[in-house]
Amino acid sequence: MNNIFDSHAHYDDERFSPDRDELLKRVFESGVIGIINCGSDLKSSITSLNLAQRYENIYAAAGIHPHEAESAGKNDLLLIADLLDSKKCVAVGEIGLDYHYDFSPRDIQKQIFEEQLKIAKEKDLPVIIHDREAHEDTMELLKKYQPKGVVHCFSGSAEMAKEVVKLGMYIGLGGAVTFKNAKKPVSVAAVVPEDKLLIETDCPYMTPVPHRGERNDSSLIPFTAEVIACVRGITAQEVLDITAKNAKELFGI
Ligand code: NI
Repeated sequence: MNNIFDSHAHYDDERFSPDRDELLKRVFESGVIGIINCGSDLKSSITSLNLAQRYENIYAAAGIHPHEAESAGKNDLLLIADLLDSKKCVAVGEIGLDYHYDFSPRDIQKQIFEEQLKIAKEKDLPVIIHDREAHEDTMELLKKYQPKGVVHCFSGSAEMAKEVVKLGMYIGLGGAVTFKNAKKPVSVAAVVPEDKLLIETDCPYMTPVPHRGERNDSSLIPFTAEVIACVRGITAQEVLDITAKNAKELFGI
């Protein structure tokens, strides 16, 4: 398969340190045409941009993940805003709310999320949203700020997916659709309009079946595409073609 666009990856993760360059070479030889590498704090946003500057087909997102909201300072947001002015930085992300782990207090998560939604508006950039068990507050803020962007690794219901799409936003689906207990993501895969669907790895995490338990990378996306294709009654290559076109459109590539 070809024309694979991975809309959400973390190749800056230390799990890639032993073989990052060889792996990326293999990934680009396996039909991958584009990767968005997402930051989760200032340091990883800088590393993402460095990767994007070294690899023609890697693009960066810069942002502060809800887990890191408490440890981020005002200065970090200013520096992230600077990174966003770089040509290879195409989105604000990943940003959002995580009430599953609650690694940062919720009021601070919300504050940092809102500030980054404002930055995205100012810079006219799409956002990459992380929402884990925080659907209600996430939707409230998305309705308030109406950003362009994607809710990645979408874990809400089919009903919520429709609401997100109504706001003009995209839905990102990854390895979770291949998991045995994947009722919700599969029901979402069935209802997202063709022009609002993105595919992603979230690598090194969320490895699709039958490689679950191993380190994930973009060359495994066809396993995810197969499941989405089956649900939608089209071919996996069609899923890849559609999602590559959508990613290029959203991220202005
Ligand atoms: Ni991620």
